[in-house]
Amino acid sequence: MKVAVLTGGGDCPGLNAVIRAVVRRASAHGFEMMGLRDGWKGLLEDNHFRLTRETTSGILHRGGTILGTSRVNPFKVENGLEKVKRAMERNEIHAVIAIGGEGTLSAATRMSQEGLRIVGVPKTIDNDLNGTDFTFGFDTAVAIATEAIDRLHSTAESHKRVIVCEVMGRHVGWIATYAGMAGGADVILVPEVPADLVRVAEHIKHRHSTGRSFSIVVVAEGTRIKLSHEGQEQLVTSGALDEAGRPRLGGVGSIVANEIEQRTGYETRVSVLGHIQRGGAPTAHDRVLATRFGVHACDMVARGEFGKMAALRGNEIVSVDLAEATRELKKVPQEFFEVAQVFFG
Ligand code: F6P
Repeated sequence: MKVAVLTGGGDCPGLNAVIRAVVRRASAHGFEMMGLRDGWKGLLEDNHFRLTRETTSGILHRGGTILGTSRVNPFKVENGLEKVKRAMERNEIHAVIAIGGEGTLSAATRMSQEGLRIVGVPKTIDNDLNGTDFTFGFDTAVAIATEAIDRLHSTAESHKRVIVCEVMGRHVGWIATYAGMAGGADVILVPEVPADLVRVAEHIKHRHSTGRSFSIVVVAEGTRIKLSHEGQEQLVTSGALDEAGRPRLGGVGSIVANEIEQRTGYETRVSVLGHIQRGGAPTAHDRVLATRFGVHACDMVARGEFGKMAALRGNEIVSVDLAEATRELKKVPQEFFEVAQVFFG
């Protein structure tokens, strides 16, 4: 039986660990594994290659994805669904294991509702997928951002500056909250709580009036900001669209830094971490989580559990409906963020 695997959307550390795990487990089930190049695009364009133990050895620790990735969505391609169905028939693909985030798995959900045999694996540094406690890639991104915040601390302290660190995460503040807490940030701004920059500046002034000479502010790229108490909330985008047609986020850090400097008079700098958070080797935690997801996903195919996604609940790997995983974004709960707020200032 032929089973295909693809990686879609933004890459993240741990993708290769899933691919390796899927291929290893597949041999126990007697599956022949195929790798689709560049996400759904590989299926639409018959661009694939055989995956074996040999071609997937030595990749566990490597960042990125040996399959390549793209944000191509078959539902945005003319007759895309028909093309996917015909490609699966033509290549005798029994099932597809789709490793992806919200975009890739939303397409997977619709395809499985159309009767295609699909199993999902949740990846993203953003940790915004519903139905799973954590996605792989998140722990690595948090580790990288935490190290960056530690480094910013020492230079901010030496120069008596405010430093604003902009992190990724799209419309949720998981990376900002975790890395900000781990790095001891003085203010954390997240999409879940619109940021009144007048209040942020007052807060920093108050902190400095109590003898502190520097501050670290962590801001998630998707944070909606207000330049006055009554002002309109605004989301900062680069003006360009990504491959999936969604606005590219980024740039909020500069605005936050500028407002702080203008309102406090303290020298303020910005550091944007960008894709550094997504590249390089996965942490041990992400390697293990990705491996467990990969083995489970292969077992799901063997059991005929389609239209579902491997998920982490507590410390168990379980299968949840793809529809549940993509129903809404998983935001940082208020109670969790309130713990981070205890340390502001
Ligand atoms: O979803 C992962 C992510 O890194 C987001 O945090 C970020 O907004 C986006 O992808 C960046 O995408 P791109 O690689 O297309 O710039």
